[in-house]
Amino acid sequence: MVSEHSAAQVLVASNRGPISYTLKDDGSLDAKRGGGGLVSGLSAIGSEADALWVCAALGDGDREAVRRHEGADGVLMLDIDEAVHADAYNGIANSVLWFVHHMLYQTPLEPAFDAEFRRQWGAYESYNRAFAEALAEHADEGAAVLVQDYHLCLVPGMLRAMRPDLRIGHFSHTPWAPVDYFRMLPDDIAEQLLWGMLGADRLGFLTSRWATAFMSCADRLEKATAHFPSGGSPRLYVEHARTGRTSARTTEVAVHGLGADADFLRARSHEADVDERMATLREQIGPDRKTIVRVDRTELSKNIVRGLLAYRHLLDTRPEWRERVVHVAFAYPSRQDLAVYRDYTAEVQRVADEINAAYGTDGWTPVVLHVQDDFARSLAAYRLADVALVNPIRDGMNLVAKEIPVVSDDGCALVLSREAGAHEELGDDAVTVNPYDVTGTADALHEALTMPHDERARHTKRLATAATALPPQRWFLDQLEALREHGQERHDG
Ligand code: G6P
Repeated sequence: MVSEHSAAQVLVASNRGPISYTLKDDGSLDAKRGGGGLVSGLSAIGSEADALWVCAALGDGDREAVRRHEGADGVLMLDIDEAVHADAYNGIANSVLWFVHHMLYQTPLEPAFDAEFRRQWGAYESYNRAFAEALAEHADEGAAVLVQDYHLCLVPGMLRAMRPDLRIGHFSHTPWAPVDYFRMLPDDIAEQLLWGMLGADRLGFLTSRWATAFMSCADRLEKATAHFPSGGSPRLYVEHARTGRTSARTTEVAVHGLGADADFLRARSHEADVDERMATLREQIGPDRKTIVRVDRTELSKNIVRGLLAYRHLLDTRPEWRERVVHVAFAYPSRQDLAVYRDYTAEVQRVADEINAAYGTDGWTPVVLHVQDDFARSLAAYRLADVALVNPIRDGMNLVAKEIPVVSDDGCALVLSREAGAHEELGDDAVTVNPYDVTGTADALHEALTMPHDERARHTKRLATAATALPPQRWFLDQLEALREHGQERHDG
Protein backbone atom coordinates (compact mmCIF):
# COMPACT_ATOMS: atom_id res chain seq x y z
CA MET A 1 0.00 0.00 0.00
CA VAL A 2 1.17 3.51 -0.69
CA SER A 3 1.02 6.55 1.52
CA GLU A 4 -1.54 9.15 0.49
CA HIS A 5 1.15 11.32 -1.11
CA SER A 6 3.00 8.93 -3.40
CA ALA A 7 1.90 7.63 -6.79
CA ALA A 8 -0.11 4.39 -6.98
CA GLN A 9 -0.10 1.69 -9.66
CA VAL A 10 -3.58 0.38 -8.76
CA LEU A 11 -6.41 2.62 -7.59
CA VAL A 12 -9.97 1.87 -6.57
CA ALA A 13 -12.59 4.60 -6.28
CA SER A 14 -15.92 4.18 -4.51
CA ASN A 15 -18.33 6.33 -2.55
CA ARG A 16 -18.21 4.11 0.55
CA GLY A 17 -14.71 3.07 1.53
CA PRO A 18 -13.37 0.02 3.37
CA ILE A 19 -13.19 1.79 6.72
CA SER A 20 -15.33 4.28 8.63
CA TYR A 21 -14.74 6.32 11.76
CA THR A 22 -16.96 7.36 14.63
CA LEU A 23 -16.10 10.13 17.02
CA LYS A 24 -16.26 8.91 20.63
CA ASP A 25 -17.32 11.02 23.62
CA ASP A 26 -13.71 11.31 24.81
CA GLY A 27 -12.75 12.81 21.43
CA SER A 28 -10.94 9.72 20.14
CA LEU A 29 -11.80 8.04 16.86
CA ASP A 30 -13.07 4.51 16.53
CA ALA A 31 -12.21 2.81 13.21
CA LYS A 32 -14.47 0.10 11.82
CA ARG A 33 -13.71 -2.07 8.80
CA GLY A 34 -16.66 -2.51 6.46
CA GLY A 35 -18.07 -5.96 5.72
CA GLY A 36 -19.75 -7.53 2.71
CA GLY A 37 -18.64 -8.98 -0.59
CA LEU A 38 -17.69 -5.70 -2.21
CA VAL A 39 -15.28 -4.74 0.53
CA SER A 40 -13.79 -8.22 0.71
CA GLY A 41 -13.44 -8.29 -3.09
CA LEU A 42 -11.90 -4.91 -3.34
CA SER A 43 -9.72 -5.67 -0.34
CA ALA A 44 -7.68 -7.86 -2.66
CA ILE A 45 -6.22 -4.48 -3.57
CA GLY A 46 -4.21 -4.95 -0.38
CA SER A 47 -2.16 -7.63 -2.11
CA GLU A 48 -1.06 -5.06 -4.68
CA ALA A 49 2.06 -3.27 -3.53
CA ASP A 50 1.33 0.23 -4.81
CA ALA A 51 -2.39 0.51 -4.23
CA LEU A 52 -4.67 3.30 -3.13
CA TRP A 53 -8.42 3.22 -2.35
CA VAL A 54 -10.07 6.61 -2.85
CA CYS A 55 -13.45 7.08 -1.15
CA ALA A 56 -15.64 9.82 0.32
CA ALA A 57 -15.56 10.88 3.95
CA LEU A 58 -19.08 10.03 5.15
CA GLY A 59 -20.19 11.62 8.39
CA ASP A 60 -18.47 13.50 11.21
CA GLY A 61 -16.11 10.72 12.26
CA ASP A 62 -14.65 10.33 8.79
CA ARG A 63 -14.30 14.08 8.34
CA GLU A 64 -12.52 14.38 11.65
CA ALA A 65 -10.17 11.55 10.67
CA VAL A 66 -9.31 13.47 7.48
CA ARG A 67 -8.66 16.65 9.45
CA ARG A 68 -6.42 14.79 11.91
CA HIS A 69 -4.65 12.87 9.12
CA GLU A 70 -5.56 9.66 10.92
CA GLY A 71 -6.56 7.68 7.84
CA ALA A 72 -5.59 4.07 7.28
CA ASP A 73 -2.66 3.20 5.02
CA GLY A 74 -3.64 2.91 1.39
CA VAL A 75 -6.98 4.72 1.89
CA LEU A 76 -7.54 8.31 0.79
CA MET A 77 -10.77 9.81 2.11
CA LEU A 78 -12.01 12.88 0.25
CA ASP A 79 -13.55 15.53 2.45
CA ILE A 80 -16.07 16.77 -0.11
CA ASP A 81 -18.31 19.66 0.89
CA GLU A 82 -21.16 18.13 2.92
CA ALA A 83 -23.97 19.80 0.95
CA VAL A 84 -22.41 18.77 -2.36
CA HIS A 85 -22.08 15.19 -1.16
CA ALA A 86 -25.66 15.13 0.11
CA ASP A 87 -27.04 16.38 -3.24
CA ALA A 88 -24.89 13.96 -5.23
CA TYR A 89 -25.44 10.92 -2.99
CA ASN A 90 -29.00 11.35 -1.71
CA GLY A 91 -30.33 13.46 -4.56
CA ILE A 92 -28.87 12.02 -7.75
CA ALA A 93 -27.28 8.67 -6.93
CA ASN A 94 -29.89 7.24 -4.55
CA SER A 95 -33.05 9.06 -5.62
CA VAL A 96 -32.53 9.08 -9.38
CA LEU A 97 -29.95 6.59 -10.65
CA TRP A 98 -30.82 3.88 -8.11
CA PHE A 99 -34.51 4.34 -8.92
CA VAL A 100 -33.93 4.19 -12.67
CA HIS A 101 -31.83 1.02 -12.60
CA HIS A 102 -34.16 -0.72 -10.12
CA MET A 103 -37.27 0.58 -11.92
CA LEU A 104 -38.68 1.94 -8.68
CA TYR A 105 -40.48 5.06 -9.86
CA GLN A 106 -44.19 5.32 -9.30
CA THR A 107 -46.35 7.50 -11.49
CA PRO A 108 -48.14 9.95 -11.36
CA LEU A 109 -45.61 11.99 -9.37
CA GLU A 110 -42.34 10.35 -10.22
CA PRO A 111 -40.03 11.00 -11.86
CA ALA A 112 -40.00 14.77 -12.20
CA PHE A 113 -36.76 16.11 -13.61
CA ASP A 114 -37.21 19.70 -12.51
CA ALA A 115 -35.04 22.67 -11.53
CA GLU A 116 -34.13 21.01 -8.22
CA PHE A 117 -32.93 17.95 -10.10
CA ARG A 118 -30.76 20.18 -12.34
CA ARG A 119 -29.26 21.84 -9.27
CA GLN A 120 -28.46 18.46 -7.73
CA TRP A 121 -26.97 17.30 -11.01
CA GLY A 122 -24.45 20.14 -10.70
CA ALA A 123 -23.43 18.68 -7.32
CA TYR A 124 -23.12 15.21 -8.85
CA GLU A 125 -20.72 16.65 -11.43
CA SER A 126 -18.63 18.41 -8.75
CA TYR A 127 -18.54 15.30 -6.61
CA ASN A 128 -17.39 13.18 -9.58
CA ARG A 129 -14.81 15.83 -10.47
CA ALA A 130 -13.38 15.71 -6.94
CA PHE A 131 -12.79 11.97 -7.38
CA ALA A 132 -11.33 12.37 -10.87
CA GLU A 133 -8.91 15.06 -9.67
CA ALA A 134 -7.77 12.98 -6.69
CA LEU A 135 -7.24 9.93 -8.91
CA ALA A 136 -5.36 12.01 -11.51
CA GLU A 137 -3.15 13.38 -8.79
CA HIS A 138 -2.29 10.06 -7.15
CA ALA A 139 -2.05 7.69 -10.12
CA ASP A 140 1.36 6.66 -11.39
CA GLU A 141 2.10 6.72 -15.14
CA GLY A 142 -0.04 4.02 -16.85
CA ALA A 143 -1.72 2.99 -13.57
CA ALA A 144 -4.93 0.92 -13.48
CA VAL A 145 -7.97 2.68 -11.97
CA LEU A 146 -11.11 0.72 -11.01
CA VAL A 147 -14.09 3.03 -10.47
CA GLN A 148 -17.13 1.59 -8.69
CA ASP A 149 -20.84 2.03 -9.18
CA TYR A 150 -23.53 4.54 -10.09
CA HIS A 151 -22.24 7.23 -7.75
CA LEU A 152 -19.22 7.75 -10.00
CA CYS A 153 -20.43 7.39 -13.59
CA LEU A 154 -18.78 10.58 -14.79
CA VAL A 155 -15.35 9.79 -13.36
CA PRO A 156 -13.98 7.68 -16.26
CA GLY A 157 -14.65 10.40 -18.86
CA MET A 158 -13.30 13.19 -16.64
CA LEU A 159 -10.24 11.19 -15.69
CA ARG A 160 -9.44 10.22 -19.28
CA ALA A 161 -9.46 13.90 -20.26
CA MET A 162 -7.00 14.65 -17.43
CA ARG A 163 -4.82 11.55 -17.73
CA PRO A 164 -5.06 9.73 -21.09
CA ASP A 165 -2.20 7.44 -20.04
CA LEU A 166 -4.30 5.62 -17.41
CA ARG A 167 -6.13 2.30 -17.82
CA ILE A 168 -9.60 2.96 -16.55
CA GLY A 169 -12.30 0.46 -15.57
CA HIS A 170 -15.78 1.04 -14.19
CA PHE A 171 -17.92 -1.58 -12.47
CA SER A 172 -21.70 -1.41 -11.89
CA HIS A 173 -22.95 -3.28 -8.83
CA THR A 174 -26.56 -2.55 -9.71
CA PRO A 175 -28.79 -3.77 -12.52
CA TRP A 176 -28.85 -1.61 -15.64
CA ALA A 177 -32.24 -0.25 -16.72
CA PRO A 178 -33.87 -1.47 -19.93
CA VAL A 179 -33.46 1.08 -22.68
CA ASP A 180 -37.09 2.29 -22.61
CA TYR A 181 -36.87 2.95 -18.88
CA PHE A 182 -33.42 4.55 -19.06
CA ARG A 183 -34.64 7.04 -21.64
CA MET A 184 -36.92 8.61 -19.01
CA LEU A 185 -33.81 10.57 -18.04
CA PRO A 186 -33.45 13.90 -19.86
CA ASP A 187 -31.45 13.26 -23.05
CA ASP A 188 -28.49 15.46 -22.11
CA ILE A 189 -28.17 13.77 -18.72
CA ALA A 190 -28.45 10.27 -20.19
CA GLU A 191 -25.73 11.17 -22.69
CA GLN A 192 -23.45 12.56 -20.01
CA LEU A 193 -23.84 9.40 -17.96
CA LEU A 194 -23.17 7.08 -20.89
CA TRP A 195 -20.24 9.09 -22.25
CA GLY A 196 -18.89 9.41 -18.73
CA MET A 197 -18.79 5.64 -18.39
CA LEU A 198 -17.53 5.16 -21.94
CA GLY A 199 -14.46 7.12 -20.92
CA ALA A 200 -13.39 3.77 -19.46
CA ASP A 201 -11.42 1.11 -21.32
CA ARG A 202 -13.55 -1.59 -19.72
CA LEU A 203 -16.98 -1.60 -18.15
CA GLY A 204 -18.00 -4.43 -15.84
CA PHE A 205 -21.45 -5.73 -14.93
CA LEU A 206 -22.58 -8.52 -12.63
CA THR A 207 -24.64 -10.40 -15.24
CA SER A 208 -25.02 -10.53 -19.01
CA ARG A 209 -28.55 -9.17 -18.61
CA TRP A 210 -27.28 -5.88 -17.16
CA ALA A 211 -24.37 -5.71 -19.62
CA THR A 212 -26.60 -6.07 -22.68
CA ALA A 213 -29.08 -3.54 -21.29
CA PHE A 214 -26.22 -1.04 -21.04
CA MET A 215 -25.14 -1.89 -24.59
CA SER A 216 -28.64 -1.16 -25.91
CA CYS A 217 -28.57 2.26 -24.24
CA ALA A 218 -25.07 3.03 -25.59
CA ASP A 219 -26.14 1.96 -29.06
CA ARG A 220 -28.63 4.84 -29.15
CA LEU A 221 -25.82 7.38 -28.88
CA GLU A 222 -25.09 9.17 -32.11
CA LYS A 223 -21.36 8.50 -32.05
CA ALA A 224 -21.33 5.00 -30.60
CA THR A 225 -22.02 1.55 -31.99
CA ALA A 226 -22.58 -1.43 -29.76
CA HIS A 227 -21.13 -4.73 -30.99
CA PHE A 228 -22.87 -7.78 -29.59
CA PRO A 229 -21.15 -11.17 -29.80
CA SER A 230 -21.25 -12.71 -33.24
CA GLY A 231 -19.40 -15.34 -35.22
CA GLY A 232 -18.25 -17.18 -32.11
CA SER A 233 -16.67 -14.12 -30.49
CA PRO A 234 -17.92 -13.71 -26.93
CA ARG A 235 -16.76 -10.11 -26.82
CA LEU A 236 -19.12 -7.20 -26.19
CA TYR A 237 -17.76 -3.78 -27.00
CA VAL A 238 -18.78 -0.26 -27.86
CA GLU A 239 -16.98 1.49 -30.67
CA HIS A 240 -16.87 5.25 -30.53
CA ALA A 241 -15.10 8.36 -31.66
CA ARG A 242 -15.29 10.91 -28.90
CA THR A 243 -12.44 13.32 -29.53
CA GLY A 244 -9.90 13.89 -32.25
CA ARG A 245 -7.13 12.60 -30.04
CA THR A 246 -8.72 9.27 -29.20
CA SER A 247 -10.71 8.54 -32.34
CA ALA A 248 -12.19 5.10 -32.98
CA ARG A 249 -11.52 4.00 -29.43
CA THR A 250 -13.39 1.00 -28.07
CA THR A 251 -14.76 0.26 -24.64
CA GLU A 252 -14.97 -3.40 -23.75
CA VAL A 253 -18.08 -4.46 -21.82
CA ALA A 254 -17.56 -7.50 -19.63
CA VAL A 255 -19.41 -9.65 -17.13
CA HIS A 256 -17.81 -10.49 -13.79
CA GLY A 257 -20.17 -12.27 -11.40
CA LEU A 258 -19.36 -11.76 -7.74
CA GLY A 259 -19.50 -14.83 -5.53
CA ALA A 260 -19.56 -15.45 -1.79
CA ASP A 261 -16.36 -15.57 0.22
CA ALA A 262 -16.61 -19.20 1.40
CA ASP A 263 -13.48 -19.35 3.59
CA PHE A 264 -14.35 -16.18 5.45
CA LEU A 265 -18.03 -17.09 5.90
CA ARG A 266 -17.40 -20.64 7.10
CA ALA A 267 -14.85 -19.50 9.65
CA ARG A 268 -16.77 -16.44 10.84
CA SER A 269 -20.07 -18.30 11.20
CA HIS A 270 -18.54 -20.69 13.75
CA GLU A 271 -17.24 -18.06 16.14
CA ALA A 272 -18.60 -17.90 19.67
CA ASP A 273 -20.75 -14.77 19.18
CA VAL A 274 -22.64 -16.51 16.36
CA ASP A 275 -23.29 -19.56 18.56
CA GLU A 276 -24.65 -17.28 21.29
CA ARG A 277 -27.02 -15.60 18.88
CA MET A 278 -28.19 -18.97 17.59
CA ALA A 279 -29.20 -19.91 21.10
CA THR A 280 -31.20 -16.67 21.47
CA LEU A 281 -32.87 -17.10 18.10
CA ARG A 282 -33.79 -20.71 18.89
CA GLU A 283 -35.57 -19.48 22.01
CA GLN A 284 -37.45 -16.83 20.03
CA ILE A 285 -38.47 -19.36 17.38
CA GLY A 286 -39.52 -22.10 19.76
CA PRO A 287 -39.20 -25.90 19.42
CA ASP A 288 -40.24 -27.96 16.37
CA ARG A 289 -40.90 -25.04 14.11
CA LYS A 290 -39.66 -24.29 10.63
CA THR A 291 -37.83 -21.02 10.02
CA ILE A 292 -38.09 -18.73 7.00
CA VAL A 293 -35.17 -16.27 7.01
CA ARG A 294 -34.59 -13.05 5.13
CA VAL A 295 -31.76 -10.54 5.63
CA ASP A 296 -31.70 -7.22 3.78
CA ARG A 297 -30.97 -3.55 4.06
CA THR A 298 -34.35 -1.86 4.48
CA GLU A 299 -34.34 -1.11 0.81
CA LEU A 300 -37.30 -0.58 -1.48
CA SER A 301 -35.87 -2.84 -4.17
CA LYS A 302 -35.61 -5.74 -1.69
CA ASN A 303 -39.40 -6.06 -1.66
CA ILE A 304 -39.68 -6.82 2.06
CA VAL A 305 -43.32 -5.76 2.36
CA ARG A 306 -44.54 -8.08 -0.41
CA GLY A 307 -42.54 -10.86 1.24
CA LEU A 308 -44.43 -10.26 4.49
CA LEU A 309 -47.74 -10.13 2.63
CA ALA A 310 -46.91 -13.48 1.02
CA TYR A 311 -46.18 -14.94 4.45
CA ARG A 312 -49.50 -13.58 5.74
CA HIS A 313 -51.27 -15.17 2.78
CA LEU A 314 -49.58 -18.49 3.61
CA LEU A 315 -50.84 -18.35 7.21
CA ASP A 316 -54.23 -17.29 6.00
CA THR A 317 -54.78 -19.92 3.34
CA ARG A 318 -52.84 -22.83 4.86
CA PRO A 319 -53.75 -22.79 8.53
CA GLU A 320 -51.72 -25.95 9.09
CA TRP A 321 -48.63 -23.68 9.20
CA ARG A 322 -49.91 -21.62 12.13
CA GLU A 323 -47.73 -22.24 15.22
CA ARG A 324 -45.43 -24.37 13.03
CA VAL A 325 -43.39 -21.71 11.28
CA VAL A 326 -41.60 -18.45 12.18
CA HIS A 327 -40.50 -15.76 9.75
CA VAL A 328 -37.20 -14.28 10.93
CA ALA A 329 -36.78 -10.98 9.08
CA PHE A 330 -33.72 -8.79 9.54
CA ALA A 331 -34.23 -5.43 7.86
CA TYR A 332 -31.27 -3.21 8.60
CA PRO A 333 -31.73 0.56 8.28
CA SER A 334 -30.37 2.09 5.09
CA ARG A 335 -30.29 5.60 3.57
CA GLN A 336 -32.41 7.00 6.37
CA ASP A 337 -31.79 10.57 5.20
CA LEU A 338 -34.38 9.88 2.50
CA ALA A 339 -38.05 10.13 3.51
CA VAL A 340 -39.04 7.35 1.12
CA TYR A 341 -36.66 4.94 2.89
CA ARG A 342 -37.88 6.02 6.35
CA ASP A 343 -41.48 5.50 5.26
CA TYR A 344 -40.62 2.10 3.85
CA THR A 345 -38.93 1.07 7.10
CA ALA A 346 -42.07 2.10 9.01
CA GLU A 347 -44.24 0.15 6.57
CA VAL A 348 -42.16 -3.02 7.10
CA GLN A 349 -42.58 -2.62 10.85
CA ARG A 350 -46.31 -1.94 10.52
CA VAL A 351 -47.03 -5.01 8.38
CA ALA A 352 -44.95 -7.26 10.67
CA ASP A 353 -46.84 -5.95 13.73
CA GLU A 354 -50.15 -6.50 11.95
CA ILE A 355 -49.31 -10.14 11.21
CA ASN A 356 -48.25 -10.72 14.81
CA ALA A 357 -51.43 -9.10 16.09
CA ALA A 358 -53.65 -11.09 13.72
CA TYR A 359 -52.11 -14.54 14.15
CA GLY A 360 -49.75 -14.53 17.16
CA THR A 361 -50.54 -16.61 20.24
CA ASP A 362 -49.07 -16.74 23.75
CA GLY A 363 -46.36 -19.15 22.72
CA TRP A 364 -45.84 -18.13 19.10
CA THR A 365 -44.66 -14.92 17.43
CA PRO A 366 -45.15 -15.40 13.68
CA VAL A 367 -42.69 -12.67 12.61
CA VAL A 368 -39.46 -11.98 14.46
CA LEU A 369 -38.32 -8.65 12.99
CA HIS A 370 -34.99 -7.05 13.92
CA VAL A 371 -33.85 -3.71 12.57
CA GLN A 372 -30.56 -3.31 14.46
CA ASP A 373 -27.65 -4.30 12.20
CA ASP A 374 -25.79 -7.32 13.61
CA PHE A 375 -23.67 -9.44 11.27
CA ALA A 376 -23.15 -12.25 13.81
CA ARG A 377 -26.92 -12.55 14.23
CA SER A 378 -27.38 -12.64 10.44
CA LEU A 379 -24.93 -15.55 10.26
CA ALA A 380 -26.78 -17.30 13.09
CA ALA A 381 -30.03 -16.99 11.12
CA TYR A 382 -28.30 -18.23 7.97
CA ARG A 383 -27.20 -21.37 9.83
CA LEU A 384 -30.68 -22.05 11.22
CA ALA A 385 -32.79 -21.30 8.15
CA ASP A 386 -35.04 -23.99 6.65
CA VAL A 387 -36.10 -21.57 3.93
CA ALA A 388 -34.38 -18.41 2.68
CA LEU A 389 -36.60 -15.75 1.12
CA VAL A 390 -34.81 -13.50 -1.39
CA ASN A 391 -37.47 -11.76 -3.48
CA PRO A 392 -36.10 -8.41 -4.75
CA ILE A 393 -37.93 -6.45 -7.43
CA ARG A 394 -34.54 -6.09 -9.09
CA ASP A 395 -31.06 -6.66 -7.72
CA GLY A 396 -27.61 -6.43 -9.28
CA MET A 397 -26.61 -9.77 -7.75
CA ASN A 398 -27.81 -10.35 -4.14
CA LEU A 399 -25.13 -11.88 -1.98
CA VAL A 400 -27.51 -13.12 0.74
CA ALA A 401 -28.81 -15.73 -1.73
CA LYS A 402 -25.22 -16.87 -2.17
CA GLU A 403 -24.14 -16.72 1.47
CA ILE A 404 -26.97 -18.73 3.04
CA PRO A 405 -26.28 -22.04 1.21
CA VAL A 406 -22.60 -21.75 2.15
CA VAL A 407 -23.28 -21.30 5.84
CA SER A 408 -26.42 -23.43 6.30
CA ASP A 409 -26.08 -26.18 8.95
CA ASP A 410 -28.76 -28.51 7.70
CA GLY A 411 -29.61 -27.46 4.16
CA CYS A 412 -31.91 -24.62 3.25
CA ALA A 413 -34.45 -24.25 0.43
CA LEU A 414 -33.98 -20.99 -1.47
CA VAL A 415 -36.99 -18.99 -2.69
CA LEU A 416 -35.42 -16.64 -5.21
CA SER A 417 -36.72 -13.79 -7.35
CA ARG A 418 -36.14 -14.22 -11.04
CA GLU A 419 -35.18 -10.53 -11.08
CA ALA A 420 -32.08 -10.96 -8.89
CA GLY A 421 -28.78 -11.17 -10.77
CA ALA A 422 -27.98 -14.25 -8.67
CA HIS A 423 -30.84 -16.05 -10.40
CA GLU A 424 -28.70 -16.43 -13.55
CA GLU A 425 -26.33 -18.66 -11.56
CA LEU A 426 -28.61 -20.18 -8.89
CA GLY A 427 -32.01 -20.45 -10.59
CA ASP A 428 -31.76 -24.19 -11.33
CA ASP A 429 -31.61 -25.07 -7.64
CA ALA A 430 -34.02 -22.47 -6.29
CA VAL A 431 -37.80 -22.11 -6.12
CA THR A 432 -38.25 -19.20 -8.51
CA VAL A 433 -40.71 -16.36 -7.89
CA ASN A 434 -42.03 -13.33 -9.72
CA PRO A 435 -41.43 -10.73 -6.99
CA TYR A 436 -44.70 -8.89 -7.65
CA ASP A 437 -46.78 -12.05 -7.34
CA VAL A 438 -47.76 -12.25 -3.68
CA THR A 439 -49.90 -15.40 -3.84
CA GLY A 440 -47.31 -17.04 -6.09
CA THR A 441 -44.65 -16.23 -3.48
CA ALA A 442 -46.86 -17.77 -0.77
CA ASP A 443 -47.10 -20.94 -2.87
CA ALA A 444 -43.32 -20.93 -3.30
CA LEU A 445 -42.85 -20.62 0.47
CA HIS A 446 -45.13 -23.62 0.96
CA GLU A 447 -43.22 -25.62 -1.65
CA ALA A 448 -39.91 -24.72 0.02
CA LEU A 449 -41.20 -25.54 3.53
CA THR A 450 -42.40 -28.97 2.41
CA MET A 451 -39.32 -29.86 0.34
CA PRO A 452 -38.03 -33.30 1.43
CA HIS A 453 -34.88 -33.11 3.52
CA ASP A 454 -32.58 -34.95 1.09
CA GLU A 455 -33.78 -32.87 -1.86
CA ARG A 456 -33.14 -29.72 0.14
CA ALA A 457 -29.64 -30.93 1.04
CA ARG A 458 -28.88 -31.75 -2.59
CA HIS A 459 -29.95 -28.29 -3.79
CA THR A 460 -28.03 -26.56 -1.00
CA LYS A 461 -24.84 -28.36 -1.94
CA ARG A 462 -25.17 -27.33 -5.57
CA LEU A 463 -26.12 -23.76 -4.61
CA ALA A 464 -23.04 -23.49 -2.40
CA THR A 465 -20.81 -24.68 -5.24
CA ALA A 466 -22.31 -22.21 -7.71
CA ALA A 467 -22.29 -19.39 -5.14
CA THR A 468 -18.59 -19.72 -4.40
CA ALA A 469 -17.37 -20.30 -7.97
CA LEU A 470 -16.11 -16.71 -8.21
CA PRO A 471 -14.71 -15.64 -4.85
CA PRO A 472 -14.49 -11.87 -4.31
CA GLN A 473 -10.72 -11.76 -4.53
CA ARG A 474 -10.78 -13.45 -7.91
CA TRP A 475 -13.52 -11.12 -9.05
CA PHE A 476 -11.17 -8.20 -8.36
CA LEU A 477 -7.95 -9.72 -9.69
CA ASP A 478 -9.60 -10.94 -12.93
CA GLN A 479 -10.76 -7.41 -13.65
CA LEU A 480 -7.39 -5.93 -12.86
CA GLU A 481 -5.62 -8.37 -15.14
CA ALA A 482 -8.11 -7.82 -17.99
CA LEU A 483 -7.80 -4.05 -17.62
CA ARG A 484 -4.03 -4.24 -17.78
CA GLU A 485 -4.23 -6.43 -20.89
CA HIS A 486 -6.76 -4.12 -22.52
CA GLY A 487 -4.57 -1.13 -21.68
CA GLN A 488 -1.61 -2.94 -23.17
CA GLU A 489 -3.48 -3.47 -26.45
CA ARG A 490 -4.49 0.18 -26.44
CA HIS A 491 -0.93 1.34 -25.89
CA ASP A 492 0.58 -1.10 -28.39
CA GLY A 493 -2.04 -0.45 -31.04
C1 G6P B 1 -25.52 -1.25 -3.10
C2 G6P B 1 -24.59 -0.41 -3.93
C3 G6P B 1 -23.32 -0.06 -3.16
C4 G6P B 1 -23.70 0.54 -1.83
C5 G6P B 1 -24.62 -0.40 -1.05
C6 G6P B 1 -25.06 0.17 0.29
O1 G6P B 1 -25.00 -2.52 -2.92
O2 G6P B 1 -24.27 -1.05 -5.14
O3 G6P B 1 -22.52 0.85 -3.89
O4 G6P B 1 -22.56 0.85 -1.07
O5 G6P B 1 -25.76 -0.65 -1.84
O6 G6P B 1 -25.70 1.39 0.12
P1 G6P B 1 -25.16 2.73 0.79
O7 G6P B 1 -25.99 3.81 0.18
O8 G6P B 1 -25.41 2.55 2.24
O9 G6P B 1 -23.69 2.86 0.49
